[in-house]
Amino acid sequence: MKVLVIGGGAREHALCRSLSLDPDVNALYCAPGNAGIAEVAELRPVDALDGEAVARLATELRADLVVVGPEAPLVAGVADAVRAAGIPVFGPSGEAAQLEGSKAFAKDVMAGAGVPTARSYVCATPEEVDAALDAFGAPYVVKDDGLAAGKGVVVTDDRAAARAHALGCDRVVIEEFLDGPEVSLFAITDGVTVLPLQPAQDFKRALDGDEGPNTGGMGAYSPLPWADPKLVDEVMASVLQPTVDELRHRGTPFSGLLYAGLAMTSRGVRVIEFNARFGDPETQVVLARLRTPLAGVLLNSANGTLDAQPPLSWSEDAAVTVVIASHNYPETPRTGDPIEGLAEVAEQDAPNAYVLHAGTRREGDAVVSAGGRVLSVTATGSDLAQARTRAYKAVARIGLDGSQYRTDIAAKAAEGR
Ligand code: AMP
Ligand code: GLY
Repeated sequence: MKVLVIGGGAREHALCRSLSLDPDVNALYCAPGNAGIAEVAELRPVDALDGEAVARLATELRADLVVVGPEAPLVAGVADAVRAAGIPVFGPSGEAAQLEGSKAFAKDVMAGAGVPTARSYVCATPEEVDAALDAFGAPYVVKDDGLAAGKGVVVTDDRAAARAHALGCDRVVIEEFLDGPEVSLFAITDGVTVLPLQPAQDFKRALDGDEGPNTGGMGAYSPLPWADPKLVDEVMASVLQPTVDELRHRGTPFSGLLYAGLAMTSRGVRVIEFNARFGDPETQVVLARLRTPLAGVLLNSANGTLDAQPPLSWSEDAAVTVVIASHNYPETPRTGDPIEGLAEVAEQDAPNAYVLHAGTRREGDAVVSAGGRVLSVTATGSDLAQARTRAYKAVARIGLDGSQYRTDIAAKAAEGR
């Protein structure tokens, strides 16, 4: 099978790594990719937001499957263009990707499907904003309606800051604060059949102890030793299947990856958000544990044949990933800094620990930073403590001027807290 992956972050590196290990995959391309992906896939330049260009590239490469990684191309309808060219594609239509592209649409789908989520108001005027802020009180949760790369959400006790963020957006969703730990649960679907993956936990704040601003995600781990073993079944029944059914009944069937961001509140599971693609960095740890070859599963989603997919097989290992981010991430990240130590990790830590590239590019012989999140150092082990030790040992070998990472990824879970 010839597979083309669209995107160029650590999620796409994780996808390409798994696909490169799949015996059914005999040619692997990534567009546009990054310096790390170039080691497992052939890179092609493309404007990932241009559906016609992606469809042309897929046709040229005679791809049997196109996997669209990030949300922006999905929302822009790139999967539709590839499908129209007659090529199977893993990823939802532009319309169905509104589940991520518009928080208001997602709320409407959840209301229709009876899926538990935070109570919310969609606001477009200062009067509506004030009324919603006062209805819920602090802590205030204010979400830009559109895509914002994980940075459109403000959670604060400061009413003035909440109001300022709301007024800076065209349309906002203001909602009830949900307490309790967060879980990311992914499911692969073809629009009818839903196949859940293993849950993971993401660390969204920039600094240790969940301090600092929200980011795209600073680290992740899986499995979740503290979670109820019935969690996946429960979320399947109360969230994932009803959402997929609702979207199908609305005439916007959702195929691809349905990402449920969940809060385990004292009153039960609530959906914080949906995404329409694999999460980053959770994908790095979920795929590190998936034993079933990936390409066939994605192709079954693309072809609408997921009912024929044998059950997924999972490693008993735990996985941890630690994101190394640029100086000044998430505000205005500095790029162009040389990255040291990649060869040392490959020589001394593989295969238990390895570096997935997020924002990197090659400059002559050097690999330099090219984005806010630069690397996602991933490790496996017999338990979280071992995976964590291995991940941080590899992190310590990496040199990147001004970079930052959290030191507490999976720490509480590894200690059984
Ligand atoms: P989102 O982009 O919707 O995932 O929001 C980013 C982060 O903001 C989430 O991972 C949560 O940590 C936080 N958040 C979003 N919605 C809520 C909520 N209703 N209550 C508490 N925290 C929230
Ligand atoms: N890790 C959060 C996200 O992918 O949106």
